[in-house]
Amino acid sequence: MKICVIGMGYVGLVAAAGLAGPDRKVVGVESDPAKLRLLYQGEVPIHEPGLDELVRAHAESKQLCFTDRIEEGLAGADFALVAVGTPARLDGRVDLSALYRVSEQIVRNAVHPITVVMKSTVPPGTGRALTERFFSKSATRIRYASNPEFLREGQAVKDWFSPDRIVVGSDDQDVATRVLALYAGIQAPKIRTSVVSAEMIKYAANAFLATKISFINEIATICELVGADVTEVAPALGMDVRIGSQFLRAGIGYGGSCFPKDTKGLEQLSSLNGYDFALLKAVIEVNRRQRISAVRKLRAALGGLLDKRVAVLGLAFKPGTDDVRESPAIEIISYLVDEGAAVSACDPVAVANARTVLPDSVELFQDPYDAVRNSNAVLLATEWDDFTGMDWTKVKRLMAPPFVVFDGRNALARASLEALGFRYSGIGRQGAGDGDEVSTNITFGKKRASQV
Ligand code: UDX
Repeated sequence: MKICVIGMGYVGLVAAAGLAGPDRKVVGVESDPAKLRLLYQGEVPIHEPGLDELVRAHAESKQLCFTDRIEEGLAGADFALVAVGTPARLDGRVDLSALYRVSEQIVRNAVHPITVVMKSTVPPGTGRALTERFFSKSATRIRYASNPEFLREGQAVKDWFSPDRIVVGSDDQDVATRVLALYAGIQAPKIRTSVVSAEMIKYAANAFLATKISFINEIATICELVGADVTEVAPALGMDVRIGSQFLRAGIGYGGSCFPKDTKGLEQLSSLNGYDFALLKAVIEVNRRQRISAVRKLRAALGGLLDKRVAVLGLAFKPGTDDVRESPAIEIISYLVDEGAAVSACDPVAVANARTVLPDSVELFQDPYDAVRNSNAVLLATEWDDFTGMDWTKVKRLMAPPFVVFDGRNALARASLEALGFRYSGIGRQGAGDGDEVSTNITFGKKRASQV
């Protein structure tokens, strides 16, 4: 069997490496020359644990190869997996232009029957539209299935081989059976749906997870107002199996290539269909506020940001990845720089990617101890072990007054930091000096919301 995977981004490359095997030859198609050069050399262009080894092993046994020529990938292929980018446009709508280009190329090059399997996240209705606009017009039979991907960055290989479920949407049972057979060796519930339902499952999953995060961030804000501590509230909340313990970590909000794009995409799609998805709008707005709230808290703790030095620990949107797309750290840094703060920052793996999007004035370091030198405040933006396990006595020695630590992920040992003389504040818990203001009645009179 031959499988052509179009787009060697993080979904496509993991799928290509995951599907390659003794009886399956996979050809990965990539148009970016820089990425392709790395792949030819047996290197992986993204930081993804376990992926290098998998790609190298299949490349060496010739079950996985790469090309920039789509016609070469499609020649004789039984399946064309599409994993090209579907980025957000400025207004939040999804940019499907890469998908249209690829669909045209598939039609142009299809000389024998082929099944198109959509792995890119696309708005519900896209499969039907692509079929009507492109695939149904082909002289050769092109069949279509939606097979959304739920991989998490940093755990993508693990997620590929042990998914929570595999969803295949097709309006043809035979196609669904053949696509599901690609996952024969994987133990997971296998769900068959219509194309549009499969597309919706992906959007709904991401929107729901984003909702959980914004919900706990709202609870965190109320905790600050009434003197509760969200790090005590959330675990007990999550013990209710109907709620579940995951995605209840309050912080500076979600980022990455999926949640921000998919929540906005679904909100836009609803609005285009005449529906005001008020809940999702609020989720997006709360996430935006979390970032601004971090800037406000730092401004208040430092008595203004002009000429203060802030060290930002973490640039990736979460630990385990070098991806800085929509990373809260990047946006917060741009606000800090705008307000005249000097910013030094570091990340174990994301410095190179961050350099391309950060203002030149931001100093970047590999070593966190270099980053914190002479800083008035430290912001923990990404909870890498490298940061949570730092020697904070040494950090204090390197820093300058007033020794503010803003824990944007509630991941640091607050009591020990305070014992060392840091002015600690986190998300959804009382910050330094807040204690006296906490009201035990319900008028909330004296407290001020930390969010705008
Ligand atoms: C997500 C989905 O989990 C995955 O199924 C989908 O295929 C792609 O989008 P990913 O973007 O890799 O995966 O990140 P994820 O681990 O889900 O985290 C997303 C963001 O939410 C991160 O910025 C993380 O820091 C934040 N987050 C997560 C929180 O702020 N609190 C939480 O409790 C959990």
